[in-house]
Amino acid sequence: MQRIYLDQASTSFPKAPGTAEAVFRYMTECGCNISRGGYKGAYAAEELVYDTRTLLCRLFGCRDDDPKKAVLTHNVTESLNILIKGMLKPGDHVLVSSMEHNAVMRPLGQCAKQGVRFTRVPCAEDGTMNPADLEARIEENTRAVVMLHASNVCGTILPAAEIGRICRRKGIRFILDTAQTAGIVPLDMAAMGVDALAFTGHKGLLGPQGTGGFLIREELAAEMEPLISGGTGSISHTEEVPDFLPDRFEAGTMNLPGIAGLHASLTWLTDRPEGSILQHELHLTEQFLRGMEALEEEGLIRVTGKHGTEGRTGVVSILPLHTDPAELAFRLDEQYGIATRVGLHCAPAAHQTLGTWPTGTVRFSFGIFNTEEETDEAVRAVSALCRKERRE
Ligand SMILES: Cc1ncc(COP(=O)(O)O)c(C=O)c1O
Repeated sequence: MQRIYLDQASTSFPKAPGTAEAVFRYMTECGCNISRGGYKGAYAAEELVYDTRTLLCRLFGCRDDDPKKAVLTHNVTESLNILIKGMLKPGDHVLVSSMEHNAVMRPLGQCAKQGVRFTRVPCAEDGTMNPADLEARIEENTRAVVMLHASNVCGTILPAAEIGRICRRKGIRFILDTAQTAGIVPLDMAAMGVDALAFTGHKGLLGPQGTGGFLIREELAAEMEPLISGGTGSISHTEEVPDFLPDRFEAGTMNLPGIAGLHASLTWLTDRPEGSILQHELHLTEQFLRGMEALEEEGLIRVTGKHGTEGRTGVVSILPLHTDPAELAFRLDEQYGIATRVGLHCAPAAHQTLGTWPTGTVRFSFGIFNTEEETDEAVRAVSALCRKERRE
C-alpha cells in the first residue's frame, strides 16, 4: 500500500526538488559556520545565507530588497515569540483573531501575566473576519494586531490587506503569521502594510524542518528588545547586544544545513509562475470538497469552514457524525495508507469558532505534489469508512 500524504499543513512532503541534496552538499562539502571564520568555506556559507535572505525579501515583497531585514530563526513559533515578547510591554493592548494557533496565543498568554491585555476579534462560523469588527475593538493603547494569514484548521484566509490598511491608519503594528500561506499564497509585505511577516521554512516553502524567520521593518525592530542574546560574530569588542539587523535577533549558531536546504527550495519556488501553487492546491481542494459535500448531504459528515474555493487554502477539516475523528484518521491510515491529522491542531479557539470544540476534526491538507488520483482515493476512503460506521 502506497502512502498518500495529506498532512501538508503540518509539514510538507516531499520537499522541493534539490532540497535534500543541498543539505547533503552543505554537510559534506562545506560544513563551516558564518561570521566566525576568515577562510573560503566560511565565506561560501556567508554567501549562502545572504542569498537566502535575498530570496526571502523577493518572495515576500520586502520592496527595497534589503537582505538584512530577513531574520533567520528555527521556525515560525520562535519568530512569533521573538516578535511578541520583544515588542509588548505591560499596559499594551493587542488584537488577535478568534482563529489563532497556539504559536500566537501561548506567548501572548505569557505576556498577559506581565500586564499585557488582548482581545479576540470574533470570526464567523466559516472562519472569515469582517475587518470592521477588528477596527471597532481598537483601544487607545492598542499596540498591535497579531494574526494568522490563513487558518491551519479550515484554510480560511483572513483579510490581511484590509487589516494592514486599518493598522497603518491607526498607527498600530501589524504582525502576520504566514505559516499556512508562505510559498502558497502570493505575499506582498509592503502592499499588505505588514510590519513583521513571520514564516516557517518546512511547510509551503518546501524546505527542511528547523528553518524559519521573519521579515521586519526597521521602525519596529528599533522598538524591540531581543528575546535571545549572545555571540553573533559581529562587534565582538563589546558585550552589548548589536543594535543592527539581522544580528540583533540572531545570536548563536544557525541551522546552516537547514538554510542550505531552504535556499534550494526557495530557488525552486521562485521559478514557479506566481499563484500556480495555490491554483493546483485549490484544484484538488475543489475536487475533495465536492466529494465531502455529497457526504455532508447524506448526513455522514460536516465540512467546517468555507465550502467554495474562494478565499481559502488547500486545508479542509471534516467532522464525522457517526464515529470519533481519531477512529476515522486511524482507519484512513491503517486501511488506505492516507495520512491526515486529527484533533484540535494547536488551535482551540478556532474550534470554538467553527463549532467543532472539543471534539476536533480530521484535517486533510493538499500540497503541490499531491495528485487528482490521491484526492479521489481520499474521497472514496472517507465515503466507505463513514458509511460502514453508520451501518454498525
Ligand atoms: C497558523 C500556524 N502558526 C504557527 C504554526 C507553528 O509552526 P512551526 O511549528 O513551524 O513553528 C503552525 C503550524 O502548524 C500554524 O499552522
